[in-house]
Amino acid sequence: MIESPNGGLPDRVAIVTGAGQGLGRAFARAFAETGAISIVAEIDKTRGDNVAREIEQAGGQAMPVVVDIGDEKSVDAMVQAVTAKFGRVDILVNNAAVFSTLKMRPFTEIPLDEWERVLRVNITGTYLCCRAVAAPMKARGWGRIINISSGSITLGRPNYLHYTTSKSALIGMSRSMARELGPSGITVNAILPGATFTEVPRETVTEAQKAQLIAMQCVPRAQTPGDLVGTVLFLASESSAFVTGQSITVDGGCTHS
Ligand SMILES: NC(=O)c1ccc[n+]([C@@H]2O[C@H](COP(=O)([O-])OP(=O)(O)OC[C@H]3O[C@@H](n4cnc5c(N)ncnc54)[C@H](O)[C@@H]3O)[C@@H](O)[C@H]2O)c1
Repeated sequence: MIESPNGGLPDRVAIVTGAGQGLGRAFARAFAETGAISIVAEIDKTRGDNVAREIEQAGGQAMPVVVDIGDEKSVDAMVQAVTAKFGRVDILVNNAAVFSTLKMRPFTEIPLDEWERVLRVNITGTYLCCRAVAAPMKARGWGRIINISSGSITLGRPNYLHYTTSKSALIGMSRSMARELGPSGITVNAILPGATFTEVPRETVTEAQKAQLIAMQCVPRAQTPGDLVGTVLFLASESSAFVTGQSITVDGGCTHS
C-alpha cells in the first residue's frame, strides 16, 4: 500500500499521459492505489487498455483514453471525455514524451523531422494538455499540474539534443504557467528524474553510463519508477498547495541544481 500525504487522494481525477508503460504506468497505478481515478492517457491503445485493466484488477479505478498529445483535437477530445464522465480534472501529469525510442547520435546527425517531432510532442504536447485542463481546473478553483522534465538537462547529457532541449523548455513553462494559474488555486511544478530503469529496454543509457551515474549518486543504487512516486503524489496533494513554479530533482543526489 502506498503511503501518501493527507490520507490519499480519494476521488481525485488524475490524467497521466504516456501511462501505457514505464514511469507513467507507475504513476497511474500509484494514483489508483491512493484512491484517485487514474486516466490512462496513451497513444498506444493496447498498452493503455492493459494498464487500465491492471489497475482495475488490483481494485483501483481507471479509464483508458487514446490520445496523441501532439495533436490539438486529440487532446481536447481527451479532456472532454474525462470531464463528460467525471465532471472534473484535478491532476495532470505531463509524462508522455518521445524518449525510450530515441537513438543517441551527435546533434549534427539528427534528422530535422525527428527534431520537430520531439519538440512537437514533448513541448507543444505538454502545452496543449495544460491548456485543455486549465478551464475545468479554474472552474473548481483547484488543480495540480506536474511536468516530467529530466535530470539530463542538469547534466547536459550529450547525443539527444532535441530531447534535452525539450525537457529544458518545461522548466520555463512551469515557472511562467505557475504565475498565471496560481490565483486560480492551481500549482504547476516540474520533476527532474535521474536515469530511471523501467521494464522498457532503451539505448539512451548504456551499461557503462548506468554504472557511472550510480557512482555519482549519494544513494548509490539504480533508480526505479517507485523512487519518483512519492514526489508525484506530494505535488498532486493538498499538502503541496504552497509549492509552485518549482523544479524538483529526484535522482538519488546525482546532481545538485
Ligand atoms: N526513464 C528515465 O530514465 C527518465 C529520466 C528522466 C525523465 N524521464 C521522462 O519521464 C517520462 C517517462 O519516461 P519513460 O522512461 O517511462 O518513457 P517511455 O518512452 O518508456 O514511455 C513514454 C510513453 O509515452 C507514450 N507517448 C509517446 N508519445 C506520445 C504521444 N504523442 N501521445 C501520448 N502518449 C505518447 C509512449 O507510447 C509511452 O507509453 C518521459 O517524459 C521521460 O522523458 C524519464
